[in-house]
Amino acid sequence: PKEKLKDDLLSFTSTKELDAKSGFDGNENESTVSITVVGASGDLAKKKIFPALFALYYEDCLPKHFTIYGYARSKMTDAELRNMVSKTLTCRIDKRENCSEKMDQFLKRCFYHSGQYDSEENFSQLDKKLKKQEGGRVSNRLFYLSIPPNIFTEAVKCSSLSASSGNGWTRVIVEKPFGRDSESSAVLTKALKQYLAEDQIFRIDHYLGKELVENLSVLRFANLIFEPLWSRRYIRNVQLIFSEDFGTEGRGGYFDNYGIIRDIMQNHLLQILALFAMETPVSLDAEDIRNEKVKVLRSMRPLRLEDVVVGQYKSHSRGGVTYPSYTDDKTVPKDSLTPTFAAAALFIDNARWDGVPFLMKAGKALHNRGAEIRVQFRHVPGNLYNRNFGTDLDRATNELVIRVQPDEAIFLKINNKVPGLGMRLDRSNLNLHYAARYSKEIPDAYERLLLDAIEGERRLFIRSDELDAAWALFTPVLAELEEKKIIPESYPYGSRGPVGAHYLAARYNVRWG
Ligand code: NDP
Ligand code: BG6
Repeated sequence: PKEKLKDDLLSFTSTKELDAKSGFDGNENESTVSITVVGASGDLAKKKIFPALFALYYEDCLPKHFTIYGYARSKMTDAELRNMVSKTLTCRIDKRENCSEKMDQFLKRCFYHSGQYDSEENFSQLDKKLKKQEGGRVSNRLFYLSIPPNIFTEAVKCSSLSASSGNGWTRVIVEKPFGRDSESSAVLTKALKQYLAEDQIFRIDHYLGKELVENLSVLRFANLIFEPLWSRRYIRNVQLIFSEDFGTEGRGGYFDNYGIIRDIMQNHLLQILALFAMETPVSLDAEDIRNEKVKVLRSMRPLRLEDVVVGQYKSHSRGGVTYPSYTDDKTVPKDSLTPTFAAAALFIDNARWDGVPFLMKAGKALHNRGAEIRVQFRHVPGNLYNRNFGTDLDRATNELVIRVQPDEAIFLKINNKVPGLGMRLDRSNLNLHYAARYSKEIPDAYERLLLDAIEGERRLFIRSDELDAAWALFTPVLAELEEKKIIPESYPYGSRGPVGAHYLAARYNVRWG
């Protein structure tokens, strides 16, 4: 299919022609959605945003009248953008199916405008092109800011002053990082709010779009068996673990200014924690859910430096291959103290969670790639089966594991009788393995989030007070790490991370799962 795409590189098709094909009845009031990917030449746009838009189109989830514009400084024609985009589209929904026709149709709806991010004039030119495509209908406009954070404000200013919709909604998806501490985040929020109302800003945290993260609330609130156990009474500790088996290759320049705590913990893991620990919301309404998340974040005990362990990966040779150190990256200073690994023990000082350690661990260049939530339950009171039957139940407690990725699964570790005439116990899993249970492929997080933004559903986006609370938790410890120039513990590329993480967990009587 890709060869075919290259052959007939999609000539310009006007909205009118598309309407003729799609049966537009000429009703001028019918609305259109224009999606502008700002930073369209970049890595995220190619890897995630265009493929997600195509998947939505393939699944008939995009509105009947839509146009996609790429916007960036690079010089490109519409055909060149389509060529670039076509290389990353996959027929992931059904690998056996031939998607080439759908891809053709999708690419015909993609256009490109080259412009500066701080030029109102260039965005006005885009506005003219969008109007032409919109053909006088009610026009809704979504801007996806897929650009480095230092140009967010200028791009928001120029796009909203010059290319906002005149008669429909205008929404802006902002990619992380939203600042690098409380102060810079507040400055960014203030700057964005000069040009946009809070309900126009969609701060994306793509972990909220992951299937098993979305399922957390279903698991808790749609099953009788979990919610009664969901407190300090039965839960001993909760672990939120993120690991990647590759380093910061290619993104060292960005990463060195942020580090793993800002890159993963302050957003992805903390968002999971908030969903995990929040009280039952009044409804599934975005504001009700976000109100509960903010309450949890505000109830968190200030994080102390002694409850944080940081690490940085070092070169390691294995099987004849030498893996680099973090500081081997040319864009990273040789004396960088930026952590590529961190572990932290956090506490929520409210009635439900008082005293329960929430342990976070995140690292790059570790032995595997994965993200999971582990809930370790308390030991069974009384001594009925303890010790005499092959299991120490004080140690072999129940554990609920929610494997967010890869190979999505939920499993509950239980103690079970080994079949036979004797009485011996072992640990087994009650296992919900997604690939075995559901034949449908799981959508990418960006698909869900883009669709939600188009539909105005804010549930999975971060509200500004949530962001403030998240930064308030991490800012003091980040400042202390930097002021005191804490040297990260070294760990070999491809290992399980620094040993300090185990001591930290042991201090709270926890063993990492
Ligand atoms: P890129 O570095 O690829 O930048 C995107 C585009 O912005 C580039 O193609 C370039 O386009 C323009 N650009 C780059 N640097 C500058 C600059 N200094 N001044 C002006 N324009 C510049 O970023 P990504 O695509 O990787 O990421 C986009 C956003 O998404 C960032 O905020 C990033 O933090 C976030 N993000 C990225 C992820 C990823 O996996 N890549 C994951 C999660 C978040 P041109 O030169 O054509 O104008
Ligand atoms: C991004 C981080 O937010 O998430 C990256 O900036 C990280 O450093 C990525 O690699 C991980 O996302 P996923 O969906 O691949 O787990």
